[in-house]
Amino acid sequence: MGDLRRSKRWLVLCMSLSELLFTVVNGARIFQEWYVAINTNINTVLRDQPEWSATKTKLVARWSFGYKLPDPARWNLTTRAARPNPQRTFNVWNMTPSETFVLHGSFAKINGLSRFTVNNVSYNTPTTPLKLADYYNNDSNVYQLDTFPIHSSLKAPVHGTFVVTGTHKNWLEIVFKNDLDSMDSWHLDEFGFFVVGYGVGRWTPVLRSTYNVYDPVVRSTVQVYPRGWSAVYVYLDNPGMWNLRSQNLKHWYLGQELYVRVYDLDPNPAKERPPPRNLLFCDQFLS
Ligand SMILES: *[C@@H]1O[C@H](CO)[C@@H](O)[C@H](O)[C@H]1NC(C)=O
Ligand SMILES: *[C@@H]1O[C@H](CO)[C@@H](O)[C@H](O)[C@H]1NC(C)=O
Ligand SMILES: *[C@@H]1O[C@H](CO)[C@@H](O)[C@H](O)[C@H]1NC(C)=O
Repeated sequence: MGDLRRSKRWLVLCMSLSELLFTVVNGARIFQEWYVAINTNINTVLRDQPEWSATKTKLVARWSFGYKLPDPARWNLTTRAARPNPQRTFNVWNMTPSETFVLHGSFAKINGLSRFTVNNVSYNTPTTPLKLADYYNNDSNVYQLDTFPIHSSLKAPVHGTFVVTGTHKNWLEIVFKNDLDSMDSWHLDEFGFFVVGYGVGRWTPVLRSTYNVYDPVVRSTVQVYPRGWSAVYVYLDNPGMWNLRSQNLKHWYLGQELYVRVYDLDPNPAKERPPPRNLLFCDQFLS
């Protein structure tokens, strides 16, 4: 009898444990849904993005408990593939970026019109193509190199032809911040992003210690979560004038872009070909 009671007790304990687990898991899930819906609107955003909705609960759980990286951002090291970085490895743990861009994507009204901005600069497309200006005049009055801040935002929004220097053959760290309640995504022509970290909330330099430099994936486009940030490393091994932009067409069209000028003194056409003989001139170079 005593044995039976004891085993019954075990049974009860067992059931209440699973019940407890059920309650905890579902309670946590409901809490996450609330938390996300109330605080960040991520829920709505995810529902609008089919590729994310399948893993919604998993991702949401990871965000709310402060996980660093969802699985899709890790490279599968057991799979054989071309090694993407110049050291022929997948990791970037011994790469020290020599410069950092902190780019804050936001919304602003300029002269009463809706614009999207980077560090409070809404891109102004010049009538003379940048590359033409660069080749024949080394910037001139078409654009001024490095006029706009790359670590902070201007106090007030402006229109500007945002061109920054990227040092050839250097590693660059780019931190994208997203002020908006919707998902943003960023792309840099010609280079791959090593996605070393992302999260919701404010980015601070302290978060560098959480970067995944061991097996980051390489992506041509990186997502930046609503009111969140994403950090990438880029190896600037290709001279040129490269477009860095939001892949959200509305944001891009309304000014969320800039150019990175990677300059190399060496005129070797294997690195960058000279303009063709039948190059079309326009605007400032029409003569
Ligand atoms: C990594 O790739 C290998 C080989 O394709 C595969 O067997 C393994 O399941 C993968 N691991 C993960 C975590 O996806
Ligand atoms: C163009 O600008 C670079 C600096 O980015 C400088 O090193 C180079 O000498 C300039 N070239 C000419 C032709 O002025
Ligand atoms: C941009 O300028 C506006 C207006 O001055 C300011 O309120 C806002 O904080 C600035 N944005 C950023 C991202 O600093």
